[in-house]
Order: sequence, then structure tokens, then C-alpha cells
Amino acid sequence: MIIVLVGPPGAGKGTQARRIADKYGIPQLSTGDMFREKIASGDELGKKIKDIVESGNLVPSEITIQMIVERIKEPDCANGFLLDGFPRNVEQAEGLEKALSEAGKNLDAVVQLDVNDDELVERISGRFTCACCDEGYHDKFKKPAVEDTCDACGAEGQFKRRADDTPEKVKVRLDVYHDQTAPILAYYQSRNLLDQVDGMQDMDKVSEDISAVLDTIAAGDAPKRKNGSNPKI
Ligand code: AP5
Ligand code: MG
Repeated sequence: MIIVLVGPPGAGKGTQARRIADKYGIPQLSTGDMFREKIASGDELGKKIKDIVESGNLVPSEITIQMIVERIKEPDCANGFLLDGFPRNVEQAEGLEKALSEAGKNLDAVVQLDVNDDELVERISGRFTCACCDEGYHDKFKKPAVEDTCDACGAEGQFKRRADDTPEKVKVRLDVYHDQTAPILAYYQSRNLLDQVDGMQDMDKVSEDISAVLDTIAAGDAPKRKNGSNPKI
């Protein structure tokens, strides 16, 4: 299966992507994580994109498309993959379509997580992750069972917060989402690929609704989609 997970900053893309990747045995490809790794490594590309990523703006599509096109040629993507945070504008959506068509592959679904802006600010401002295994947490919605210790890998004192998670940067990221990313929803709806999931529900219910869509596709059936009506943005 080839799946795109789209939604505003803090919608739960990373949270759900990890669960989907585990359940269906496909890799999670997060362009945000890839860029943060490049920044941490301090290589040429990392230096070039650091200020852009930390300001909340989009990295130029030329760089982003090339990075994904190379990544999906890796052997672990042979049986499918899950894109988390890509594409983020129509140019990237067209780049993906071209790359898949050249490889003789098709996109199966674009799952949109719909969450309102006030909730996003609360989610992002409370978020932290384990630096060792990337497990995600939240000050209010998902605390570790033992304080300062990762539930997933047991690392102690390794939690970190992102440089672009301040209230000012979140505002920029939300504006960028509404201006540049939201148009891809109509793009995919016109191709009958868009599935909308209510991302305001608790994490397990969101996972359940996404699984209902993906299980249908995995079984070789066509999911019921509202083709034609305007997508909720
Ligand atoms: P990226 O890393 O993709 O960030 P984002 O889109 O802003 O999304 P986030 O990672 O902040 O949120 P998320 O949806 O993953 O939510 P999460 O699961 O963590 O991109 C960062 C930057 O990289 C961009 O600004 C840009 O500069 C660059 N970039 C990336 N891709 C690019 C591209 N394609 N083109 C150009 N530039 C690109 O959840 C958030 C919090 O909420 C967590 O604490 C979680 O525990 C909690 N939570 C999750 N679900 C729920 C729920 N249902 N109920 C309550 N809490 C929940
Ligand atoms: Mg994320």
C-alpha cells in the first residue's frame, strides 16, 4: 500500500504514522523527521535548510521532491510506504504522481486528519519526544508511565522538544498549511483518493477509523469516498 497522511501541524500525523507503519509493515517516511536529521548531522543540506525549517516555512519543493524520489527507490519501500508530511503543496503532489507513474505504481489513499486550529496549538505546545526512539508524548494527553522515562525504549532523561514548537512558529506553520498545503486536498479529491478522518477524537479512535479505510484497501476493495463535494479544510 502507498499512503499519504496529510493534516495541519500537530494533527497527529506522526503519532498515527507510527501505528500504521507497525500494523501494515510499511516504512514511515516523514519529510520533517528527515530534514531534522539532516540539520542535526550538520551536513551541507542541513545547514541550508536549518533556518527555513525552524521558522516554520516550507523547504523548496525541488529539494523535497528529490529527497523523497530517492528514498522511495530503497528496497524497504518495495511493498509500499507511508508518507507523513509529504506532499505539502500541489507541486510536490505532481512530483509524487510523476515518480510513481515512472515506477509503475499508484497511490492507494490520501488520509486527511481534520483537527481545528485551537486544539493544534494545545497539542503542539505540550509535545515532547524521546531522543532515543522518537516515541511521542504530550504533557496532558500522553504522559510517560514513569516520569522522565520512555515507555517504549526505557531511556531516562532523554526527552526533547522541537525548535519550531513555539507559539509564534506554530502560527507560521498553520498559515503555511492553510495557504499552501490545503489545496492538495481538492487535488486528491478530484482523483477520488481522499479519505477524511476526524482527528479531534482520542488517539485510539483515530487509529481505528484510519484502519477501517486501510483494511478495506488491503482487502482489495474500494473505500467509500465522497467524490465531488468540497473537502473540509
Ligand atoms: P513536520 O515535522 O512534518 O511537522 P508538522 O506538519 O508541523 O507536523 P507535526 O510533526 O508538528 O505534527 P504531527 O501531525 O506529526 O502531530 P504529532 O503526531 O506529533 O514538518 C516540520 C517542518 O519541516 C515544516 O514546517 C517544514 O519546514 C519542513 N517540511 C516537512 N515536510 C516538508 C515538505 N513536504 N515540504 C517542505 N518542507 C517540509 O502530534 C502532536 C501532539 O499531539 C503530540 O504530543 C501527540 O502526543 C498529541 N496527539 C496526537 N494525536 C492526538 C489526539 N488524537 N488527541 C490528543 N493528542 C494527540
Ligand atoms: Mg510529525
